[in-house]
Amino acid sequence: MRLRSVHSLGIGDCLAKAIYNENGQALVNAGVPLSLNMIERLNSKGITFVYIDDEESQHIEFEEVITEKTRQKSIKTIKKSFQLITDPSVIKKTFQIDQLGHSFRQVVNTILEEVRSHKEAISLLVTIYSYDSYVFHHSLNVTVYALALGEKLGLNEKQLQELGLGALLHDIGKMMIPSHILNKQEPLTDKEFSLIKEHATTGFNLLRKSHSIPLLSAHCAFQHHERLNGSGYPRGIEEKDIHLFGKILGVADVFDAVTSNRVYRKAMLPHEGLELLYAGVDELFDRKMVEVFAKTIAIYPIGLEVVISDGREGIVSKQNPEMNARPVIRVLKESGETISPYEVDLTKELNLMIMKCETRLSKAAS
Ligand SMILES: [Fe+2]
Repeated sequence: MRLRSVHSLGIGDCLAKAIYNENGQALVNAGVPLSLNMIERLNSKGITFVYIDDEESQHIEFEEVITEKTRQKSIKTIKKSFQLITDPSVIKKTFQIDQLGHSFRQVVNTILEEVRSHKEAISLLVTIYSYDSYVFHHSLNVTVYALALGEKLGLNEKQLQELGLGALLHDIGKMMIPSHILNKQEPLTDKEFSLIKEHATTGFNLLRKSHSIPLLSAHCAFQHHERLNGSGYPRGIEEKDIHLFGKILGVADVFDAVTSNRVYRKAMLPHEGLELLYAGVDELFDRKMVEVFAKTIAIYPIGLEVVISDGREGIVSKQNPEMNARPVIRVLKESGETISPYEVDLTKELNLMIMKCETRLSKAAS
């Protein structure tokens, strides 16, 4: 299978994996040649990347970190609980979070189990959601990234539980913001931006009153937009005052946001998202968090079309967990000419590097 940006799909391309909407219904099935209508449907739903099957990419397989079943089930829980929060009665809201504590824990446990059994670097590029359900999938993705990062940092079981709950609920305050502001395509006014910024405090206030949510998890909502140099919000606290979980979430949250399509801009590829994190190291993001995160994610995901430094073109066919910026490439073209495919392992050919990634067409500007 080969990874393609939805913008670069052509009529007749066949999806390698079915695409579901947030209700678990297939938007487009695997193996069906795409029509213009289907491509438009994928585009309008805000889907970023898909896997397609073709002869050149045969036997290149990719395993999702969490199963489709877990994703659907988790999204259902997150969606249900987040929507309950929009109930106007404050007392009832806290009560509802209390009632939902058990379901949240179950979701965190399942994700943690699947993250632990997944030995490959993590790629969540091919997640399917409409713009309206962005916040639910974003919450799930951030939980996966945060737990994987927490595991690598050696956190204990209790810490991982608290971090997972905090990650799952970090944006719960967004439910109080009108969706026309959250999904606004034009630049936000100062007033609208101030309103959006309130979600961190609103979320914290909701969660800290709940008996089933640990206070540290509530602080994840409070701190995930704080930055080391004090330029974040809501309090503008600095490095020494930001909890480890706040630092983890800062990295996981920004990475998922920039590698997802939004109504106001297109998604970046993982290596670009990582570059953005590195650009903010020591000023915005904690150096250690970014360095460990770089070892956790698939920088060049399986199926990505690449050009290597000597001009050869191919597809990423395998990750190298010990050096995940240097995967194995299935070479398909030399000097622009199609050749009989063979593999090059970039951990063995240290003079070569990836120069260009092809799924990102000019339309997909950041
Ligand atoms: Fe947020």
